[in-house]
Amino acid sequence: MNLIEQAPAKICIVTDEGGVLQRTLTDGDIRRALLSGDSLDMLITHMSGTPKTPVIAPVDASRDVLKALLHTEQVRAIVLVDGENRPVGLVDKNQFENLVLLSPPHMGETEATFVAQAFSENWVAPAGPNIAAFEAVLAKTTGRKHALALSSGTAALHLALRVLNVKPHDRVYVSNLTFIASLQPVYYEQAVPVLIDSEPDTWNMSPLALKRRLEKDAAADTLPTAIIVVHIYGQSANIAALCALADLYGIPVIEDAAESLGATYQNMPSGSHGVLAAYSFNGNKIITTAGGGALVSDDAALIARAQMLSTQGRDPAEHYQHSTVAYNYRMSNILAGIGRGQVAILPERVAARREVFQRYQNGFADIAGLSFQADSAGSKGSRWLTVLNLDPDHIDIHPYQLIRRLRSQNIEARAGWKPMNMQPLCADLDFEPHSAKETVSSALFLRTICLPSGSSMLPDIQDRVINSIRSILKGS
Ligand SMILES: Cc1ncc(COP(=O)(O)O)c(C=O)c1O
Repeated sequence: MNLIEQAPAKICIVTDEGGVLQRTLTDGDIRRALLSGDSLDMLITHMSGTPKTPVIAPVDASRDVLKALLHTEQVRAIVLVDGENRPVGLVDKNQFENLVLLSPPHMGETEATFVAQAFSENWVAPAGPNIAAFEAVLAKTTGRKHALALSSGTAALHLALRVLNVKPHDRVYVSNLTFIASLQPVYYEQAVPVLIDSEPDTWNMSPLALKRRLEKDAAADTLPTAIIVVHIYGQSANIAALCALADLYGIPVIEDAAESLGATYQNMPSGSHGVLAAYSFNGNKIITTAGGGALVSDDAALIARAQMLSTQGRDPAEHYQHSTVAYNYRMSNILAGIGRGQVAILPERVAARREVFQRYQNGFADIAGLSFQADSAGSKGSRWLTVLNLDPDHIDIHPYQLIRRLRSQNIEARAGWKPMNMQPLCADLDFEPHSAKETVSSALFLRTICLPSGSSMLPDIQDRVINSIRSILKGS
């Protein structure tokens, strides 16, 4: 009774001495046995009544299979078993129906008002007042003179390369540990990405690797036209050191700050250090416009050119005249309305993500072999995603097993970004490791999982995630 009382699923799993599943037991089973004259100190094996056969499923059963079983069997839990019928987990119906997402959108109270205003003024399309207002507040938030609202973060990176005149066959250095969107625009321009490894603490571009690669390329006369530094998972790269190295060779830095809006580095907003910076307002980001992005800079000419390129490259003429290849990359006035509402509550959203991180850190503090990405010196990350690093010397379970087990408990976790040097698309690219002995980004990929990190996740839901991970690790 005590065990059942403590268990969130209100069910007890009974095994034999070898750990093989015998039966399940609920408070109802015990109540019925007491009514038939059993006493509380009686052995389970001697209890009155026929034990119900527990509903079981293999540990790697898909969500669809589990859903069908819960429906057909009308039970409150399914016992997950290994090949020898030993229980290794439990699918609780309540939890199963209560999906914990990785990073869902989190709307505030004013977004709908700005959108409704756009409707009532018929500023549905094309550009309109929400765009100008959103750009003004974005420029302020990011510590920049100019901001350009666009259809995606990828579009922002693409325009950054275009305005810096990156041409076919030019080399562009890119952080190796990133999402493919940091690289795709380099390919759009038929330029050649060169991949720079991470440093061990911040997981971002290694100044050591950058320095070595710049020296080699300077000697070979193959220096890049631009360097894209990513602030991965919302934590700032060591941007002062990286920009200082780039400056030595006169190479412009583009910050891919898609994940780090709201983070700071030396008390300056993340994305305020390079010549240009790109942000994303994709649905899973710290704030969202359903889909969108922005390019920011202090250089008015660069942003003016990017704006021209984002609207089909129209020449200043009365008629439609075009002299350059360009794009349809502008954000709509409706989506900018969502952005105005979202950016106003950015500080709260960042604070909530940082609290989520703090709770994970506290929740796993006593488990050897678990660690997290560090803030670079003098910086405060957005903790867009909390990413758990599992040291295989201490933790027996593989990250994918953990992800699958969490999925069976209705908790969405994901593998860390697969670095670019391991992508089929990038097989022939130059890669500069952190050191001759260590490829940091590949090691991180093999050890990390991204945990549910949404700013709307309530502490008791997060406790469920923490407890699930703790019990899976204990079981392993
Ligand atoms: C590091 C990084 N760069 C670029 C992007 C591209 O942003 P978007 O999806 O808005 O094109 C994303 C996110 O999707 C990202 O995580």
